[in-house]
Amino acid sequence: MALRLGDAAPDFTVETTDGKINLYDYLGDGWGILFSHPKDFTPVCTTELGYVAKLKPEFDKRNVKVLGLSVDPIESHRGWVGDIEETQGTALNYPLIADSDRVVSDLYDMIHPNANDTLTVRSVFVIGADKKIKLIITYPASTGRNFDEILRVVDSLQLTAKYSVATPVNWKHGEDVIIASSVTDEMAKEKFPNGWNAVKPYLRYVPQPGV
Ligand code: BEZ
Repeated sequence: MALRLGDAAPDFTVETTDGKINLYDYLGDGWGILFSHPKDFTPVCTTELGYVAKLKPEFDKRNVKVLGLSVDPIESHRGWVGDIEETQGTALNYPLIADSDRVVSDLYDMIHPNANDTLTVRSVFVIGADKKIKLIITYPASTGRNFDEILRVVDSLQLTAKYSVATPVNWKHGEDVIIASSVTDEMAKEKFPNGWNAVKPYLRYVPQPGV
């Protein structure tokens, strides 16, 4: 059955451009982003992998480990990384899984046969520090993902985990957030001693905590 939000992230040990990696060991007590791309030596994938390398310091700040994947073999990945650095101006600085036997692709349901029966689609899984799946998105091969948006979602998820707040439509870092519905007014008095703006009893804004 396909993975759903809240499920435990399936663990695996696999060959990558940084050697053999076990997912849970790699993540340690941090968060993770596992993302698949369809094929090496293809244009959209080249831009995505380069951009994620540029964002790596942002992921590091948030204690998020990044892990890319395709079903191409390790020799292919090794040949391609030079092109990524040459064309995108950043060397690959995170591991790329060579999933030629499709162990991870099957565990995470990354091959959608009615789109393509051999290549992985553009999946993204955000894995929380508790090793639970927090976000799943799926893009087609022809559309490059917006990794700034994925960073934004990570910020939102980490705020929820730490402060019991949710983020409103189009929220950006530094803007007001919403007290989670699970937090009663009594509990909110302790968590947010400076008060909040209740537009409705169920819509309570507070400044973003921790900034
Ligand atoms: C690309 O990365 O450009 C791509 C890969 C597979 C199918 C279509 C596009």
